[in-house]
Amino acid sequence: YVPKNVVIAHRGTTYWAPEETEAAFRWARNIGADYLELDLQMTKDSVLIALHDNDFSRTTNIAEVFPERVKSPVKEFTLKELRSLDAGSWFNMANPDRARDSFTDAKILTLRDVVMIVEGYRIKKNNGEPVKELIDNQWTGHFLYEIDTHDNGNRPGIYAETKKPEFEKLLASDLTDLGWNINAKAKNIKTVKGKVEIANTNGRFVLQSFSPKSIVNLEKYLPDIPKCLLLWLPAMEGDLKEKYQEAIKFAVENNVQFIGPSIGGAPNNYGELTGPWMVERAHHSGLYIHPYTFDTDKQLQQYASGVEGVFTNRADLALKFYNRIGVKSATKILDDLGY
Ligand code: G3P
Repeated sequence: YVPKNVVIAHRGTTYWAPEETEAAFRWARNIGADYLELDLQMTKDSVLIALHDNDFSRTTNIAEVFPERVKSPVKEFTLKELRSLDAGSWFNMANPDRARDSFTDAKILTLRDVVMIVEGYRIKKNNGEPVKELIDNQWTGHFLYEIDTHDNGNRPGIYAETKKPEFEKLLASDLTDLGWNINAKAKNIKTVKGKVEIANTNGRFVLQSFSPKSIVNLEKYLPDIPKCLLLWLPAMEGDLKEKYQEAIKFAVENNVQFIGPSIGGAPNNYGELTGPWMVERAHHSGLYIHPYTFDTDKQLQQYASGVEGVFTNRADLALKFYNRIGVKSATKILDDLGY
């Protein structure tokens, strides 16, 4: 279901815009990434949101809004509470060279918001403020949507990560409600020839996790959806060849088609899990490989030709590496989107 040489936009982008916000995902869609990557977490009121860290301290102004709850985990907040956080200003402070005023007060997004971005919508705004969805005059915590007039027609898939076994059943039912569960008559999404069309295929949603237990649950509730077992060196203590083989065996036995090993090299300098013998073993066992996380041309040159796709913060660089036609400059895409 998943094409070869896919560009998976890690958190949308962590480089050009605040990660996992509307700006990051609209950018990734418009530049032509094949997948928008996100991390799923569940709020106190059982809404799936896009957030990488276990708490909000790095990527929001929670210290100003809820000073007593700076390190509280996601599950202790309702969606309404989370929507009051500014998930954009931290990026501007951390990256003055890439800062844009319009990133200020970016909202934490739900899974539904990301699906809507893929489908060509954006959060509806009135005088710059998101318009709230009201039911019986009460705000649900969700916003309304409007057609994204800057959408350029790409319909990427979504590549979603679970951290631990927790909400796989809820995810299955949410995807069914959104028309994105291929086990339950997924909806037809209109695509344009020559643009990214993955959202209208059986590869529209891919699941990934470092947690074998979560993978087992995902396979239980979302059996036909493609899956990726992520690998992380510090969790593979002992004989690396043995551990690698165990991971491959687990993947094969649990209907997992992809492994997601880390790559070495600056800026992250993660442990090497995409070396030649590792790639050879995974391919020999019939697995495809989507390593993480590509930030530079050097990393693309070193690893990308030998694997089937890349998690990248620089979809702009990866699309050029794969010789995709018509890739615009990263900053022009943001300009055109009105950031
Ligand atoms: O999702 C693939 C890779 O990005 C895993 O690392 O830390 O971003 O969840 P992380």
